[in-house]
Amino acid sequence: MEVIIRPDAEKTAQLAATFIARKIKEKQKIVLGLATGRTMERIYAILVQMHKNEGLDFSGCHSFNLDEYIGLSAEDPNSYRSYMDYHLFRHVNIDLKNTHVPNGMAQDVHSEGKRYEEEIRKVGGIDLQLLGIGETGHIGFNEPLSALMSRTRDKSLTPHTRRQNAEMFGGDPEKVPSRAMTMGVGTILEARSILLVALGESKASILAKAVEGPITSMISASALQLHSACRILVDEAAASQLS
Ligand code: F6R
Repeated sequence: MEVIIRPDAEKTAQLAATFIARKIKEKQKIVLGLATGRTMERIYAILVQMHKNEGLDFSGCHSFNLDEYIGLSAEDPNSYRSYMDYHLFRHVNIDLKNTHVPNGMAQDVHSEGKRYEEEIRKVGGIDLQLLGIGETGHIGFNEPLSALMSRTRDKSLTPHTRRQNAEMFGGDPEKVPSRAMTMGVGTILEARSILLVALGESKASILAKAVEGPITSMISASALQLHSACRILVDEAAASQLS
């Protein structure tokens, strides 16, 4: 695990985008694991700028998002499919056929989990997995007590996470769906390389536990200590409780 600390959120996002762009240029057909959330917004904005100003080419990219809220259709403005369209997909030359987000409306969540895993396997696995971290230590929506070997499945969101994400739902945690489909911790650990980005004071305590504490299913991000090619990119505020 390599921890890289940048002075502020903007410099952290710049470095993350530069790293992702380098990976895209290195491999003609690259499979990206993508995250949503506030941390990713600036990173995607910089990647869009790179596409427009420098011709960064997304035509060879395949993508798999980590998660989707159960009960929200792709067209729902709060779905993660809508988030991806809004922040990245519609602004770059990625082929939408090659973009994947779990189906939050699937009738049979067990089959949907298996189908998603199979789609990832069919393209040869994920080359670069981008991650944020939740205040509960989740990666994807792997809330506390997610098995370290877990695969794509449905998971209940903790009240803390529903509060953390309430802003998008008019500030009301009750309006945040209570379940989500998420790649498992085991799925994430199979990516060939991982880049986790954390910004701000609110992530400092959980980040220190994930990076320096014991590996535990109570903090899913701590499982990243097992990965041989995992970079943690943080601003000074998020790094403030690292020893
Ligand atoms: C989103 C996801 C989550 C977020 C995490 C941090 O697809 O998988 O794990 O990365 O909740 O969210 P922000 O960036 O909003 O603090």
